[in-house]
Amino acid sequence: MLRPSNKDPLLQLNRLYYAAKKRTWNIDELPWDNLPLIPHFETEKWHLLWSSIVQQQLQADLFAVKASTHLLEVTEHKEAKMYYRTMVNDEARHVEGWIRLANGLEHAEGFSPYFMELEDMFWESKSLEEQVLVFQVCYEGCAIDAFREIAASSSNTVLGTMSEKLIGDDIIHHLSGIAYTEYMLSKASPTFKKDLEKKLKKYMPLYIENLSWRPPVRKWVSRFMVNRDKHIIKRNKLQLNKAVANLGLVPPFDL
Ligand SMILES: [Fe+2]
Ligand SMILES: [Fe+2]
Repeated sequence: MLRPSNKDPLLQLNRLYYAAKKRTWNIDELPWDNLPLIPHFETEKWHLLWSSIVQQQLQADLFAVKASTHLLEVTEHKEAKMYYRTMVNDEARHVEGWIRLANGLEHAEGFSPYFMELEDMFWESKSLEEQVLVFQVCYEGCAIDAFREIAASSSNTVLGTMSEKLIGDDIIHHLSGIAYTEYMLSKASPTFKKDLEKKLKKYMPLYIENLSWRPPVRKWVSRFMVNRDKHIIKRNKLQLNKAVANLGLVPPFDL
């Protein structure tokens, strides 16, 4: 997780707009013809395991396209509008990448029911502050480490190469969320902030369930992953608390 800048947040958002434009990349740059799509391409149970991970990431990025498009539409700040134009492009490119990966694999179900519920909560919200905080500060912040793990365990594959690219994109998505939330909270009343803290807490039980959820084709690894799951939950709770506290709000978890 990264800290809010001590500079003007809208200026920071504008810088991130230019940074995002500069690092724009193309899905065709990935090594489609030179590397396997995923690790253990030839072993069925590993093939399905990785295929379900691709599906789960596709689910997350389908949401990210819709969420960033919505933020582009509703924001009234020109710095944010320009920035979200780049983010919509990034998220659409991610969807393109996941679909191309999925097309080369045997299908394995990977959409998480907990993530679907989290999506519903996001769409029920009418507050821009809540949406940016939940989506970009919290989800995108934790996604950076998730992609680092995927990249580390899938090196020399298309998936690993793409995950490296996604780390760079998501750092910008996360930083922009911090900057924009910081700006919006500088105008918010103490009552509004208290209410926002309460709302954020409601997402967290589902978010934690989603972290260790596995689809049927990945169930066989669960018993080897008990300690790893505990570690990830603890790490993400600490990260989320820190990111929220850095914005001057009460952290969502009692640790
Ligand atoms: Fe994405
Ligand atoms: Fe993202």
